[in-house]
Amino acid sequence: MSDHVIDIEHLYLSRQETEVFVDFSWKVKAQEHWFIMGNNGCGKTTLLDALMGYVRFQKGLIRVLGAQLGKVFIPDLRKKIGYVSPWIFKRMRDTMPVSKVVASGVDGSVGYWGDIPLPLQQKVAEQLEFFHCAHLAQRSWGSLSSGQQFKVILARASVNAPRLLLLDEPFSQLDIGARLKAYDFIERLAGQGKGLSVILVTHHLEDISDLYTHGLLFKDGQNYLRGPREEVLIAEAFNDIFHIEAKKLKFFNN
Ligand SMILES: Nc1ncnc2c1ncn2[C@@H]1O[C@H](COP(=O)(O)OP(=O)(O)OP(=O)(O)O)[C@@H](O)[C@H]1O
Ligand SMILES: [Mg+2]
Repeated sequence: MSDHVIDIEHLYLSRQETEVFVDFSWKVKAQEHWFIMGNNGCGKTTLLDALMGYVRFQKGLIRVLGAQLGKVFIPDLRKKIGYVSPWIFKRMRDTMPVSKVVASGVDGSVGYWGDIPLPLQQKVAEQLEFFHCAHLAQRSWGSLSSGQQFKVILARASVNAPRLLLLDEPFSQLDIGARLKAYDFIERLAGQGKGLSVILVTHHLEDISDLYTHGLLFKDGQNYLRGPREEVLIAEAFNDIFHIEAKKLKFFNN
């Protein structure tokens, strides 16, 4: 059995006519936190969705938290993964009370129907407290600001104390202050000593806080570079992958 948090071997995945991954292998060990950057359409969302079992792959092997996709009961695996993706924000019903949005993280549904059992109510309250959102518990999803929605979705993703947190461009709607708070919440979650691994997809270099130990840079599903952050967060790597003059970015001039 693999002791990796994520273990992908020789992945081939095509979506309709697009070959997104041709022969992609990637391993994430416990204690590692990865950022993923890459051109639009290179396959970042597809990769996270494949890990969640939302997108099928045709060849290769994917193991998540030791469970092999295709052999594991996917709903059980999803309970161990916190997942934040733009489509969850879009699909949540505006009338859904915040407490039920958070409760829905228990089985990865987008919304919770019926009464929340007491033990789950307790977990929901703890998460809302952790993310400074206890006062929002009875508000409806649609009445929240983007920053408030983000914190509630992080609470939803954390309600099962996941071992893996997959974040797909989570900060795109946040103002500067909310962004900094969001970085802080994620660092606090990862720092709780519960063995959480964070995978962050982003287009913004400033999102890559010191938390992230490794990076994966995609040009496309066949051309990529990965490694410890100090090896990939360099102008040469960005020149190579993105065909840009990275030295023109302020990030590389400090
Ligand atoms: N539902 C779908 N059906 C068919 N092709 C799809 C589907 N979703 C994505 N694709 C294609 O798969 C490829 C990878 O898309 P994906 O959304 O994973 O890219 P991405 O790296 O997340 O891009 P972005 O930075 O724009 O979010 C693209 O060519 C895209 O057009
Ligand atoms: Mg995407």
